[in-house]
Amino acid sequence: MLSRINLQKSVVSAARQGLKTTRSYSLAATYFPNEPKSPELITDSIPGPKSLASNEELGEVFDNRAAYFVSDYTNSVGNYLSDADGNRLLDVYAQISSIALGYNNPALKETAKSDEMATALINRPALACFPSTDYGKVLKEGILAAAPPGLSKVWTALSGSCANETAFKAAFMYQAAKRRGSMDFTAEELTSVMQNKTPGASDAVILSFEKGFHGRLFGSLSTTRSKAIHKMDIPAFPWPVAPFPKLKYPLDEFKHENLAEEDRCLAELEEIFHSYPKEIAAIIVEPVQSEGGDNHASARYFQGLRDLTMKYEILMIVDEVQTGVAATGKFWAHEHWNLTTPPDMVTFSKKFQAAGFYFRNPDLQPHQPFRQFNTWCGDPSKALIARTIYQEISKNNLVEATAQVGDYLYKGLSEILAKYPTKVKNLRGENFGTFIAWDFIGASERQEFLDSCRAHGINMGGCGDFAVRLRPTLVFEKNHADIFLALTEDIMKKLYT
Ligand SMILES: Cc1ncc(COP(=O)(O)O)c(C=O)c1O
Repeated sequence: MLSRINLQKSVVSAARQGLKTTRSYSLAATYFPNEPKSPELITDSIPGPKSLASNEELGEVFDNRAAYFVSDYTNSVGNYLSDADGNRLLDVYAQISSIALGYNNPALKETAKSDEMATALINRPALACFPSTDYGKVLKEGILAAAPPGLSKVWTALSGSCANETAFKAAFMYQAAKRRGSMDFTAEELTSVMQNKTPGASDAVILSFEKGFHGRLFGSLSTTRSKAIHKMDIPAFPWPVAPFPKLKYPLDEFKHENLAEEDRCLAELEEIFHSYPKEIAAIIVEPVQSEGGDNHASARYFQGLRDLTMKYEILMIVDEVQTGVAATGKFWAHEHWNLTTPPDMVTFSKKFQAAGFYFRNPDLQPHQPFRQFNTWCGDPSKALIARTIYQEISKNNLVEATAQVGDYLYKGLSEILAKYPTKVKNLRGENFGTFIAWDFIGASERQEFLDSCRAHGINMGGCGDFAVRLRPTLVFEKNHADIFLALTEDIMKKLYT
């Protein structure tokens, strides 16, 4: 008999191979019998008086200036986020793409109430030194059961930025070890590294792409290229940047231009690889540049990137912090590319709640212990949550369900937005699950739309300079899509007719 885990894995594999198993019932209704049927608006405006008062109090001790409103998570259900005033908004932003199974999901509640969760929470281990007896099993049943094809190992971390930075460290140590061969560290390396100088401290680099976003810690921020304000005043590594394709929409109308644009970007990248004066240890790339504006490129382009990295023996890190965990119609967005060789590392966080990077080559583990190391090195409580998220996604075939609702949303949006060609453009994310975005003609038009969304009971986010993006949960279903589409149509009519 197949074990529970194997059985669940086979369901995901079936979905990955395109086997359609459309569910005939609403999972959201099963999970959340009390989910609102549509947005519930109580106050005249959002933030309402309770939100404002609560935020003011918070502001005395915590920088709250980015807060849209204060949330009440006990009153939030499924796809509806409650604010402090009791307004319940249809949430297509989901904590910046981080809520997989809806608010107060019963399966996650059960995990949260379990004895193993209590043990994990109150006895948080320094994982590298004192790993718990069950950490390997929990990883194998959850985070590793979900591993991208070809990658069988994981290093766990604390956030998306941390996942990327640990991947960078793995890349630098891997390349240095390859250069050194069987030699040990030299005396000069050991002395110079204590002065932050070469040859002990590496001057190798990580290459990233224009408009990419990889986090805000020091190393990750050096690879982030989305907005100047994020980087201002922070010391940065002098690392190289390459152009990322700027595609034109609709894609079938601009086939030739887009092919030429991707070829131009690949050629410029190859020129950098060829002539860069320092060692490029790795590149880092998002399958869809999310914070930078939801910029897509074709599978052919990404295969081109893979080919170049292999030709020049540069590691390829795919940052799936935002795209990962079933939102794009595949469990991992890079599965859309059908690469001939898997990426060297794939980083994750957000919807998995846990963070880290996957890899295959054991040499991406440094040869000595304590070099890839922190106190926590991840968090067993988050690994338990990730396991439940993975198991629920598998059991309920949420990869396929998200692909289907995404197709429905895309079609609906294309009909609505086509009526406003002078206001919106570049609808993108077709056949890419619910990972859908479009542009407004300007930043003020975009802001006006987002404000109207909130006033109509939708919580939605922007990205880049002019885009709005959809990042709903994986239990966002057709009925939620219908509400979203009807409200979007209404908002567009009110704004522009
Ligand atoms: C693609 C990508 N990488 C990395 C990060 C950084 O993750 P975190 O904010 O958890 O550090 C983000 C966050 O939005 C992201 O979208």
